[in-house]
Amino acid sequence: MRKTMFRAMAAALVLIIGFGLSACKKEKPTPAASAEANGVAKMDVKKDLFGRLPDGTQVEIYTLSNMNGLKARIMTYGAILVSLEVPDRSGRLGDVVLGYDALDGYVKNNPYFGAIVGRYGNRIAKGRFTLDGAVYKLAVNNGENHLHGGLKGFDKVVWDAQPRMESNSVGVKFTYLSRDGEEGYPGNLEVAVLYTITNDDELRISYEAAADKATPVNLTHHSYFNLAGGARDILGHELMLAADRYTPVDQGLIPTGELAPVKGTPMDFTTPMTIGSRIAKVEGGYDHNYVLNKADVATGLAARLADPTSGRVMEITTTEPGIQFYSGNFLDGTIPGKGGRVYKKHFGLCLETQHFPDSPNHPNFPSTILLPGRVLKSLTIHKFYTKR
Ligand code: BGC
Repeated sequence: MRKTMFRAMAAALVLIIGFGLSACKKEKPTPAASAEANGVAKMDVKKDLFGRLPDGTQVEIYTLSNMNGLKARIMTYGAILVSLEVPDRSGRLGDVVLGYDALDGYVKNNPYFGAIVGRYGNRIAKGRFTLDGAVYKLAVNNGENHLHGGLKGFDKVVWDAQPRMESNSVGVKFTYLSRDGEEGYPGNLEVAVLYTITNDDELRISYEAAADKATPVNLTHHSYFNLAGGARDILGHELMLAADRYTPVDQGLIPTGELAPVKGTPMDFTTPMTIGSRIAKVEGGYDHNYVLNKADVATGLAARLADPTSGRVMEITTTEPGIQFYSGNFLDGTIPGKGGRVYKKHFGLCLETQHFPDSPNHPNFPSTILLPGRVLKSLTIHKFYTKR
């Protein structure tokens, strides 16, 4: 299986080299470039240097743009989505994700802004689990628990990247090899994450992973969305979550194992509600995994987020069984973000499609164990549009 994945990656590399040379170095003007000269947005992918890590490692940033002007910038450090510019109802572009202007902010102090999270998104209680009779101890980085892959998760490593262009989309495929024993996990794990933006104004994130030993894997994307372009907090955003149940947690935010109904509680977003309307009744704010009614990208809508002031709407569909709704409770305004903006509590919210937190310790949850010889595949689509 590893061989197959390597072969597929090598084939993709060969295909991409030709494209990469012309798309990235821009040696001669393309028909699309002349369209831009005429004031028409074009599909494009380009690569620039974003900065250097303290050890000198170079970090690149890819800018993807579609025919409607939607633009995503993603860097090789943490495969982090640095910015996502989306039009409002009058066509004005605004950046709908929190982050920093420069690499330094991401390296020094990043509460997972825009990152790919792994090997295991969210918490594993006490950083321990048992698999095939063996007890594994993971790095502990959140009180006594393991969070988002540990001390140096996938959000803090430099990924390899390959741009790609297809008839209706542009993208970048990021790959990373997580070694046997990294942060305490068993087995070598090859991970590929493909970000694409389509001319239908979708940001698609697809994941593939293969391991040479059984290991827990739970990959997710950790953007903090603010559809008002960061103009105000997200308490006025309207949210719909297609989930009749959620997984209640204890004081350490570890699931109790129960799948509880949301009906009649402030957790209920089955009909659209503003986030601020009942947040005061939820101790600490929202930071919960919802059990999606239907995990199906073709027909199952997982979430819809709307900002009435800008008219921007984002719909999420996914193949994952859960979604973590985190209302930015730990943002405390101490870190100046993009343009010097101060991100206070509830300035952004995360909708992380995922398997349930602490699944390796809950046999009643859908399994997160990836077996050798199998390939994990997962897809999440963020679709943007506006309403009056
Ligand atoms: C978790 C929060 C955590 C945050 C870190 C979220 O996915 O659910 O508990 O504090 O990530 O930024």
